[in-house]
Amino acid sequence: MTRHIHLGPSILAADFLHLGDQIEAAQAAGADFIHVDVMDGRFVPNISFGLPLLEATRRATTLPIDVHLMMVEPGLWVQRFAEAGADIITIHVEADPHLHGTLRLIEESGAAPGITLNPATPIVMLEEVLPMVRQVLVMCVNPGFGGQTFIPAALDRIARVRDMIERRNPSCRLEVDGGIKASNVGRAVSAGADTIVAGSAIFSPDRPIPEAMADMRAAIRAALAPAGR
Ligand code: DX5
Ligand code: ZN
Repeated sequence: MTRHIHLGPSILAADFLHLGDQIEAAQAAGADFIHVDVMDGRFVPNISFGLPLLEATRRATTLPIDVHLMMVEPGLWVQRFAEAGADIITIHVEADPHLHGTLRLIEESGAAPGITLNPATPIVMLEEVLPMVRQVLVMCVNPGFGGQTFIPAALDRIARVRDMIERRNPSCRLEVDGGIKASNVGRAVSAGADTIVAGSAIFSPDRPIPEAMADMRAAIRAALAPAGR
């Protein structure tokens, strides 16, 4: 049996004037979830969007919504994000000295907790909280902007996080985010990713969403196919 790889578009790259239509198109094309990037202008050098846009996204789709909080002091906000419609809330280990408490708060708010780390953060930072989370996100770019180039060193990090997941919390998902395209998604999957975020590879003015989704799926299938077939 081939494992199902979850694929979700990041709406950061969507055309905001047609956001509802674009989310609908992604869902119709087989997206498994919608990824929402929240940036506060402090943890990352950019500001994206917040609660009202999450509420609108909630109304636009029946898919799970995966909220990636790129913000300092996420603990002050996770309840509000859960109420606004987040199914999964992922926080950065660098942004919160009280990870354990905040992850518990996410769970109590009714969302699933996720944890992530920047490309230069040692993976050992995950160790203690890994049993508490539904998902680990391995960032493949420095967070803050869509459309950046995949950092190749992320592949080895994906493999090491996969090992740690197998040891400490085998049902935990391993998500990758940043610079993922049809040309490199196969390598991320082979290294151990099972949940894929893609922004600019799916929402682009040059390509219809279903075509871009189909390309990603084909690349994922090729990576999963037994060698020689
Ligand atoms: C980057 C965000 C990503 C971004 C990915 O800080 O966390 O989710 O939207 O965009 P692409 O796929 O274009 O790199
Ligand atoms: Zn993200």
